[in-house]
Amino acid sequence: MIKNLVNGYDIDPHIAEIYDQSETYSDDLGLIRKLISDHNPWRILEPFCGTGRLLIPLALEGHTFVGIDQARTMLERAQNKINQLPLQVQKGIKLIKANVLATNWPQNFDLVILGGNCFYELATLEEQEACIRLAADALNPGGYMYIDNDHMEGDLAETWQTIGRVRKSLSGICQDGTKVESSMETVWVDVPRRLARIQRRVKLVFPDGNILEKEVLQQKHPISAVEIRTCLERSGFEVEQLFGDHTGSLYTDASLRAIFWARKC
Ligand SMILES: C[S@@+](CC[C@H](N)C(=O)[O-])C[C@H]1O[C@@H](n2cnc3c(N)ncnc32)[C@H](O)[C@@H]1O
Repeated sequence: MIKNLVNGYDIDPHIAEIYDQSETYSDDLGLIRKLISDHNPWRILEPFCGTGRLLIPLALEGHTFVGIDQARTMLERAQNKINQLPLQVQKGIKLIKANVLATNWPQNFDLVILGGNCFYELATLEEQEACIRLAADALNPGGYMYIDNDHMEGDLAETWQTIGRVRKSLSGICQDGTKVESSMETVWVDVPRRLARIQRRVKLVFPDGNILEKEVLQQKHPISAVEIRTCLERSGFEVEQLFGDHTGSLYTDASLRAIFWARKC
């Protein structure tokens, strides 16, 4: 069983900057806000918090947060943004640099957010289930879990099966002129087990002409809604809502996303 030992975001801080340039969507925040509008503040844990795309706006609305992420570069960028926030908000945020599968998670949370397709970061269904179990342990009884992924049931989708398929990934030009180019190539698939290995290639061209090139192999298991529901139920959750998009439409077979709102019993 392979594990994703090298973090593709942690190659250079410019990648975190391009992440923020590229991932500007916030419709998931709208759905989370609706789901947590009944009381304030919530004590929230966000594993895979990255540069704080979800954490920072919700902390500004009064919720307290612990964010966990493995990439120093992503956390440093998050911390720089947090340092600009009002002192009271800063006091309510703690960031932990760790591999989520190799650390003790803090406890007593009202909500765990596994947002933004973060299950793609884990190599197998077993790792994804371990993450759900850790979230269950971190929650107070009656606490909630928000899990938000692309929707793929049945066999590995055709687009994932094509060996040699290359897609452009995080790319752009940073404020200091550094050029980042990334691509992802499917190099191996196991269709029945719904596994794909992706070679991520990153090239940075710095303003002084220096070049940094890195390759990172990552295994992905695009988790199905059926698998998430099974893992949640095995960890003692009751699925209260299943949405098919960030506007809060109910999930159907044709939905593009599978978004779970589940309560720890
Ligand atoms: C796609 S980003 C998502 C960031 C954020 N959740 C969002 O929605 O914008 C995935 C993040 O997961 C982190 N990551 C990947 N594997 C990890 C692991 N095993 N433990 C902790 N963080 C991990 C990466 O460093 C990266 O910051």
